Amino acid sequence: MLFQRVAIIGLGLIGGSMVLAAKRSGLVGSVVAADSSPDELALGVELGVIDGYGSISEVVKGADLVVIAVPVRATRVVLEQLRPSLEEHAVLTDVGSTKGSFVAAVRDIFGGCGPRVIPGHPIAGSEKNGVSAAKATLFDDHKVILTPLPDTDEDALQRLTGLWEGCGATVLTMDVARHDEVLAATSHLPHLIAFSLVDTLAGEDQNMEIFRYAAGGFRDFTRIAASDPVMWHDIFLTNREAVLRVIDHFTEDLEQLRRAIDTEDGATLLRVFSRARAARNHFSKMLSGQAYVTDMSQKAVSFRLQPGGSITGDIRVPGDKSISHRSIMLGALADGVTEVDGFLEGEDSLATLQAFRDMGVTIEGPDNGHVRIHGVGIDGLQAPRGPLYLGNSGTAMRLFAGLLAAQPFDSELTGDASLSRRPMGRVADPLRAMGAVIDTAEGGRPPLKIRGGRKLSGIHYDMPVASAQVKSCLLLAGLYADGMTSVHEPAPTRDHTERMLAGFGYHVHRDGATASVVGGARLTGGRIDVPADISSAAFYLVAASIAEGSDLTLRHVGMNPTRTGVINILKMMGADITVFNQREIGGEPVADLQVRSAVLRGIDIPEDQVPLAIDEFPVLFVAATCARGRTILRGAEELRVKESDRIQVMADGLRAVGVETTVTPDGIVIDGGQTITGGDVDSHGDHRIAMSFAVASLRATGEIRVNDCANVATSFPGFVELARQTGIFIEAEEG
Ligand code: S3P
Repeated sequence: MLFQRVAIIGLGLIGGSMVLAAKRSGLVGSVVAADSSPDELALGVELGVIDGYGSISEVVKGADLVVIAVPVRATRVVLEQLRPSLEEHAVLTDVGSTKGSFVAAVRDIFGGCGPRVIPGHPIAGSEKNGVSAAKATLFDDHKVILTPLPDTDEDALQRLTGLWEGCGATVLTMDVARHDEVLAATSHLPHLIAFSLVDTLAGEDQNMEIFRYAAGGFRDFTRIAASDPVMWHDIFLTNREAVLRVIDHFTEDLEQLRRAIDTEDGATLLRVFSRARAARNHFSKMLSGQAYVTDMSQKAVSFRLQPGGSITGDIRVPGDKSISHRSIMLGALADGVTEVDGFLEGEDSLATLQAFRDMGVTIEGPDNGHVRIHGVGIDGLQAPRGPLYLGNSGTAMRLFAGLLAAQPFDSELTGDASLSRRPMGRVADPLRAMGAVIDTAEGGRPPLKIRGGRKLSGIHYDMPVASAQVKSCLLLAGLYADGMTSVHEPAPTRDHTERMLAGFGYHVHRDGATASVVGGARLTGGRIDVPADISSAAFYLVAASIAEGSDLTLRHVGMNPTRTGVINILKMMGADITVFNQREIGGEPVADLQVRSAVLRGIDIPEDQVPLAIDEFPVLFVAATCARGRTILRGAEELRVKESDRIQVMADGLRAVGVETTVTPDGIVIDGGQTITGGDVDSHGDHRIAMSFAVASLRATGEIRVNDCANVATSFPGFVELARQTGIFIEAEEG
């Protein structure tokens, strides 16, 4: 039991439901209530919600939890009345929709906020009011926001959190001011607009005739105008400042739309509408930088894999991630329209797409891989309103750093927990040498804060690591720099940026291992056909190789020689892969592949293949496990700074399924022929680790479970369905 005696001040829907839910889970002892309505109290006892009632001072005496559930404007009076009888050890909380006003009232009346005052706000409600509408399930799968203060008692916070969780809610904590800002934008403003719109229309037509013709859209949109007027009157007056800020902001935007309609500016309308539609479709992700949904909304997904199976079929995996990112970037900066086909609708490339919308670029789609970008020209980007959230994507962050370093406006780049751990000094340092001003968090980590209005100068840069992201970042910055920017790579890395720049009519000079551009030219939009991603095909190349009786055809696979390391390595291991229908589409080589099962043998992986297969090592480790003999990988320390430390995380995962390996600082040694048992694997949220263990199940002897697999959607939407269709016994489980 978390609280022995609970006092509820204001027994309505929320207070009553809270008591029912808490009693359901046995977390509270007796519950007593005070309310201005004697009828509500009598009904509360009759319905078995409360055990008794009395005046405020009577019920508060002896209570170890006091919950204020009155309308927010009545809070002050209630606090004054309960003050003399509040026990020193009691936790005091509330359920109001604004938190700044509650804290201010407590401070005024108590002369400060004690360590056991914890403001709260359950995000739940119902069109019905009063204790008779109370139900124990009201908070199930709803959120409760607690706004602890700096000196809040940790034990009190934990007990209150436990109580709300016991009521079925997910508890989030944030600070008071942030809560009020967030709610002003996500709840208060929409209510205000709904009230106002209905009132305007009703006023225009005395007979309300107009409502007869109201279609479903109007009904859905104005549903919230049926909410309690008194409560909303309270909320707007108590959250005045935050609400005024968001109204001003909205008014400006509405005025902009008005102007666009007035001046028949269709481009602005299309830009705003398509940006909004995309944001709506990817609500939780795209708004996560601003709303309280953040990462909490991302469902936990795990894979359950039954052992065995063989791989057959004729498939096309989704579009290339690297090329998809670049198609949006260059299309946005080009003059004219760019049409993209085969675009990867994965979270990473969608983050790039959304970021350009945030910078004022109109982008239609994606619609079945088709995207139409209305280029704004090399100098046409607009300042984004807030930080650009790039999710899990290292490529997006590093390439953006280059092209934003030269913009006239300031910008900030943020990402999820994995991206926030990845090194950005490798791009920030050479960009600074070009004249950029960039702040990073400690250790060169994100977020990146980029100062606008800097004039960049071309440099020659000798890359210490072979990285296509660093090379591309500098070439993009070089488009804006004075003079020539040249980048030397210690080993060949993917050259999609160079190829696509050339395709857009921007001259890229290549001299052996050095690529260079001269700033100041322009890009011309065109068509881009994105091939299937060889990095996604790699899972099926290994799957069909290791599973007996397999025969699979993969269509339209990108075969850029800077990406085909996985095929070279698998062939050296004895894989049976036939490359046919080789062709070049839009400057990138493409082919169809047939792969059949084969007896693989361990090899010493040539170091020059490492950058050419950099993303494919997790699944190549699975191939090595199924091969005869020893496989040795060296010179691959870069794997340690990918979406996870892919050497260690793969070694840990393999151990979890009974396979021992030897980890070295820059690689791994895997003795093939060990039995893959069943087991529980932690993917560390890394998409390629999760998919690699799905492949490993083909040769396992027991069930494999892989957790934290939601990020598979960053690079391979539809992976589970395609894996199942081709013969892997996979189920995805949510929650
Ligand atoms: C990529 C380059 C590689 C690769 C990443 C995509 C790109 O990273 O691992 O998945 O699109 O340029 P590095 O440049 O850090 O090696």
